[in-house]
Amino acid sequence: MPVPDTHLSIIAPHPWLIEQIAFDRIAHERIVNEDTWFHVLAAASFVESLADVYTHNLLDRMADDPQVSLWLRERWEPEELQHGRALRRYVETVWPAFDWKTAFDGFCTDYRPYCRPELLEPTRALEMVARCVVETGTSGLYGLLQQISPEPVLTTLVGHIRSDEVWHYKHFYHYFLRYRESERPSSWQVARVIRKRLGAIGQEDAYLALKNAFEVHHPGQTFSPRDFQRFQHTAGHWARADYPYEMTVKMLLKPLRLPGMIHRMALPLLVRHARRVVAP
Ligand SMILES: [Fe+2]
Ligand SMILES: [Fe+2]
Repeated sequence: MPVPDTHLSIIAPHPWLIEQIAFDRIAHERIVNEDTWFHVLAAASFVESLADVYTHNLLDRMADDPQVSLWLRERWEPEELQHGRALRRYVETVWPAFDWKTAFDGFCTDYRPYCRPELLEPTRALEMVARCVVETGTSGLYGLLQQISPEPVLTTLVGHIRSDEVWHYKHFYHYFLRYRESERPSSWQVARVIRKRLGAIGQEDAYLALKNAFEVHHPGQTFSPRDFQRFQHTAGHWARADYPYEMTVKMLLKPLRLPGMIHRMALPLLVRHARRVVAP
């Protein structure tokens, strides 16, 4: 894995811009009747659009590290917000009757209590591990969406987002290695953060984002845990064949820095386990 150079990463042009996405060439008939796609894309646009809240919490924690702070401010936050804007534009182009702003405001109100700074990990190395898990999750999600997208403009868009998320992972991992030198977290502590954060993926944020998309899209209906289970079931079905399991498990194991032989032994077992967990 190439080591990201923070300086070069900051001055390099963004790999893609929203203006380059051909929203006017969307093949509407391929996606407009896909209810699950509507909800997944709307929910993803909400979570991405809230990146400024996460950035401020992280920036406070990293305030005395100018290099990481600069990267978070100049690259990570603008890229995450661009994901949110591009997904919003896609949703509003295909489903123009959907009131995105009202649904997003509802999501912000519901989700903000889960973004408290005290929910950050106790040390910077461990927080970098947590960020690696989050970026692994988004890389896997957009990798899956890219594989199964029914519409070509969407395929391009989620492909760009996926590449950004992998690049974010590489930065957080690089910073983890740096903090690890001084903070020396044990493998046990790292494994605990990975496990905890894996348990959190797709929970409150996904539930609340889908709830707000659903209730604005279907006025008068209340989103229930049963509706959430229905989405989870469809997602599991999508993931069965096309989820990038091996890449995901490799990214998750990396901060543990297992010796080569143990890593090679653990990988196939964990990939099998991940298949059972993601798509039972
Ligand atoms: Fe993102
Ligand atoms: Fe990201």
